[in-house]
Amino acid sequence: MPSIQILPSLLAADFGHLAEACLFAERAGADAMHLDVMDGHFVPNLTMGQDIVRMADRTMNIPSSVHLMCTHPAVLLDGFLDAGSDLILFHVESHDAPGPLLKKTRAAGRRAGVVLNPETPAEACREFLGTVDEILLMTVHPGFGGQAFLQHVLPKIADIRSWAPDLDISVDGGITLDTAEACARAGANAFVAGTSLYRASDMKAEIAAMRERCEKAFFGRRA
Ligand code: DX5
Ligand code: ZN
Repeated sequence: MPSIQILPSLLAADFGHLAEACLFAERAGADAMHLDVMDGHFVPNLTMGQDIVRMADRTMNIPSSVHLMCTHPAVLLDGFLDAGSDLILFHVESHDAPGPLLKKTRAAGRRAGVVLNPETPAEACREFLGTVDEILLMTVHPGFGGQAFLQHVLPKIADIRSWAPDLDISVDGGITLDTAEACARAGANAFVAGTSLYRASDMKAEIAAMRERCEKAFFGRRA
């Protein structure tokens, strides 16, 4: 049975104090830290690379979830494995097919997953269900934090959950207490939230509230 996981996204932190932002999230009760790697080509933005992942890995005692928004993740993979990434997430829309990358990541003893953009049909992840640890569904168009949640992704969560009752299914983009609860009701169990957690007046209370609402919604689904 999947467990509820709350992951702050470092993209929403103050880039002048990234190590402190990692520790702050860990102390606030985060289950893992989400790190958004953007290459300026797959998406029109540049963010962080393997050295930030290495810093986070050395700073925190919680796992890292590394989201590669890159056209050619194959050329970057060794660097992110070397940096200590615990989970690496590959977009099915990237130029490099996820299959060999998932295999290589798992062979290195790390967790691996695939990501679907909002308009990519659920079927696109079906061939990977037996070889991934997680499916991440984008609930905004990737590239920037602070965007509004896209409701039309909700049925896709339910479809994938019906195919994979025990898999980790995460959502990323526009996640707040309300949208997290809606995703949990649809079958998501892991929640990436940047703006809503880093802008909260009390991140610890916000994570606790998100966890409580998502647990009720997720485990009460069939009730
Ligand atoms: C968007 C990134 C997200 C982003 C979420 O491309 O993949 O992880 O940090 O930010 P919020 O929670 O602000 O929508
Ligand atoms: Zn992300």
